[in-house]
Amino acid sequence: MKDLFADRMSKVPKSFVREILKVTEDSNIISFGGGLPNPDSFPHTEIAEAASKVLTLESREALQYSTTEGYKPLREYIAQRYCKGGLKVDADEILITNGSQQGLDLVGKVFLNKDDGVVVEHPTYLAAIQAFGMYEPKFHSVKLMEDGPDTVALENLLKKEKPKLFYCVPNFQNPTGISYSEDKRREVAGILRESGTVLVEDNPYGEIRFMGKDLPPIKKFLPDSVLLGSFSKVVAPGIRLGWVAAGEEVMDKLVTAKQASDLHSNYLAQRIVHGFLTQYDVEKHLDKIRTMYRRQRDLMVNSIEKYFPDGVTCTKPEGGMFLWVTLPEGVSSMELFDLAIKENVAFVPGKAFYAEDPEINTMRLNFSNSNEEKIVEGIKRLANALEKIL
Ligand SMILES: Cc1ncc(COP(=O)(O)O)c(C=O)c1O
Repeated sequence: MKDLFADRMSKVPKSFVREILKVTEDSNIISFGGGLPNPDSFPHTEIAEAASKVLTLESREALQYSTTEGYKPLREYIAQRYCKGGLKVDADEILITNGSQQGLDLVGKVFLNKDDGVVVEHPTYLAAIQAFGMYEPKFHSVKLMEDGPDTVALENLLKKEKPKLFYCVPNFQNPTGISYSEDKRREVAGILRESGTVLVEDNPYGEIRFMGKDLPPIKKFLPDSVLLGSFSKVVAPGIRLGWVAAGEEVMDKLVTAKQASDLHSNYLAQRIVHGFLTQYDVEKHLDKIRTMYRRQRDLMVNSIEKYFPDGVTCTKPEGGMFLWVTLPEGVSSMELFDLAIKENVAFVPGKAFYAEDPEINTMRLNFSNSNEEKIVEGIKRLANALEKIL
C-alpha cells in the first residue's frame, strides 16, 4: 500500500499538537497544550433553543441540500458586521466554510501549484502549514516581532521569491498571542499592494479582544485580499462553521473548489447559528467570553511572573487564547516537555509552529481551557520542571 499513496502524504506530518493531546488525556495532567475554547463559554441553552426552532419551523428547508456559497441571511449577517466595523464587504463576497480550516484548504487548492512560494509568520499557525502543505509549496518565513512581522524582511522576501501567498494572523496570533499594530497593518498592505502576492489574513480571534482598542483588518487597506473568519471561538468549534471573504474573481474559484470538496457546509448548522446570532444578545455573550479569558490570562501571566525563574519571558496578549513563553537561549522546550509531563502538566513545544528553522527555546501555553485553580497549579508545576532544566 505504501507505494500507492500520493507524494504529498509523505511530506505533510500528522499534527504534532494532536499527537501531544493524546499524552494529556490522563485526567491527572493539567494541560495548557490544546487550543480549545472554554466549554463554559458556549451558549448551550441558546443553541438548543435556536436548534429546536429551526427544526420545528424550517425543517423542510434546513434538512435539504443547499447552495455552495451558504445560507444567504448568515452571509448577510457577516457582511453587515464587517460593514459596522468599517470594512465594506458584500454578502456575495462571503463563502461559508466548514470552519476556517476549510477556508485555508480551499485557498491552497485555488492558488498553489507544487513548489509555489508561501510566506508564513515565524512562528505560524501549525495547521496552516499542514493545510497548505498538502499542495506541496515552498514555505518561507518572516520573523514576527512584538508589533507584527519584520517588514524589511517581508519586502525582501516578496521581491526575491515572488511567492503566491502571504499568510498571517494579525489578531492575537496562534501561537504567540501577538497582534499587529495599526502602522504595521498599513505597512504590510503597502508592501503587498504591487507585489503580485495575495494576502491571506486569518482572523478567528479578533472578537475576543479583552484589552486595548479594536484594529482594522489589513483587508481594509488592501481590498483585493482574502480574509478568513470563524464561529469556533465565539459560538462553538463543534459546529464547524467559518467563512472566507474575497472579491468576485477569487470567490468564483473558491466556490468551484468547495463544490468539488463537499457541495456545501452543514445547512442545518448555518440556520441554527444564524438564529442564535439574530435572536439573542450576542454582545453580552461576547463580553462574557472576554471577561472570562481576560481573568484567565491575567492569572496565567501573574503566576508566570511569580513562579517562573528569571530569564524566562512571556507575551501578554490583549485577546485570544494563547501566550508564548521564551526560555533562555539553548534551553530546549522539548526536553522541558518530558520533565513537565512527569510533573503532570503539558504545553506545546514551540518547535511545532515553525515552517523552517525552529527556535527550540519557545513554547505555547493555552489559557482559555483551564479554570483558575488549574492555571495556578499548572504554572507552579511547570515552574518546578523549569527549575530542574535550568
Ligand atoms: C489561526 C487559526 N486559524 C484557523 C483555525 C481553525 O479554526 P476553525 O475551527 O474555524 O476551523 C484556528 C483554530 O485554532 C486557528 O488558530
